[in-house]
Amino acid sequence: MPGTRKHPRQAHPRRNASIVATGMYLPERVLTNAELEKLVDTTDEWIQTRTGIKERRIAAEGEFTSDLGAKAALDAMHEGGIFADEIDLIIVATCTADTIFPSTACRIQQKIGAKKAAAFDIQAACSGFLYGLIVAEQFVASHVYETVLVIGAEKLSSIVNWKDRNTCVLFGDGAGAVIIRNRAEGHGILASDMGADGSQSDILSLPSSGCAIPVSEAVIQEGLQYLQMSGKEVYKHAVTAMNSSAEKTLARAGLKGSDIALVVPHQANLRIIETLAQKLKTDMDHCYVNIGRYGNMSAACIPVALHEASKEGRLKAGDNVLMVAFGGGLTWASVALEW
Ligand code: UT7
Repeated sequence: MPGTRKHPRQAHPRRNASIVATGMYLPERVLTNAELEKLVDTTDEWIQTRTGIKERRIAAEGEFTSDLGAKAALDAMHEGGIFADEIDLIIVATCTADTIFPSTACRIQQKIGAKKAAAFDIQAACSGFLYGLIVAEQFVASHVYETVLVIGAEKLSSIVNWKDRNTCVLFGDGAGAVIIRNRAEGHGILASDMGADGSQSDILSLPSSGCAIPVSEAVIQEGLQYLQMSGKEVYKHAVTAMNSSAEKTLARAGLKGSDIALVVPHQANLRIIETLAQKLKTDMDHCYVNIGRYGNMSAACIPVALHEASKEGRLKAGDNVLMVAFGGGLTWASVALEW
């Protein structure tokens, strides 16, 4: 058909970039469902059965996305024995940047002392970390950069309407980080997929956050400075897009669902993860789930889950791992790698 083209397909697994260290940081304050029962008309039972969430972390008042991200980055650098001046590039995935500019990546560069690093933010909402990882892979595979830090960091508590029970029970704050390098040992990122559907941008958005709807009294009255979501609509798109992206990435890597030792999915809803597991013909024992403890931390979900899975010994050298994300934009992405 004129005007359409086939997406380029990976004929072979790539193996040019490996995750050499992971890290995370979660704010200390735990907000339980019982506390939310006192804030809005909700119940612990509703939240747990509809989402799987029991509690989430909330950043302190003066603690910003760049603070969370910097601590996650330092944790990964400590784990990998990597010094700040070895980092060539910092990519930060966030939809709750400290400011639109300077970027949160620049703020983190200063906080971790990575003076030689280039730094920029990526905005793909909950898919942002995987978008960032795939971008980082290109720099490492092409030998433009040796060491790239990819961070997913969010202070979602700052954009949530604490009077709206449809959204305030779902989200939490936190940050995860990975360091990637080109390694010759054979493992690393095997295949990936990214996609977007801008026609559905209104079903999950932060309306007053840029030049289109500047903050005004009327905007504040309407609550447009807060995250807006049509949960049911987003849910339907999430299930379809995550499954189809996962299938594309598995095919490009030459793998089946049963070859995957651990699926590390975006943590928006336990039911979405269960459906994904069914569609991939795997079981929940092969899916990493921490939504109960942290809720939906958007771009921070996957790097935090990956770090925890690694620390808990659920990732062994040679394991195939599949990460799958979905978020506002709409956006989706998946990455298969050999650990
Ligand atoms: O990370 C980016 C991607 N985000 C997602 O993937 C999120 C996708 N969406 C979801 O996870 C789910 O749609 C939600 C968890 C947000 C909502 O679950 P649902 O099963 O789709 O519920 P619903 O929105 O259809 O609401 C069902 C009922 C409604 O009441 P009525 O109209 O049936 O009387 C809501 O008003 O539940 C009500 N409700 C609540 N009740 C108690 C909505 N929120 C709450 C609440 N507590 N917190």
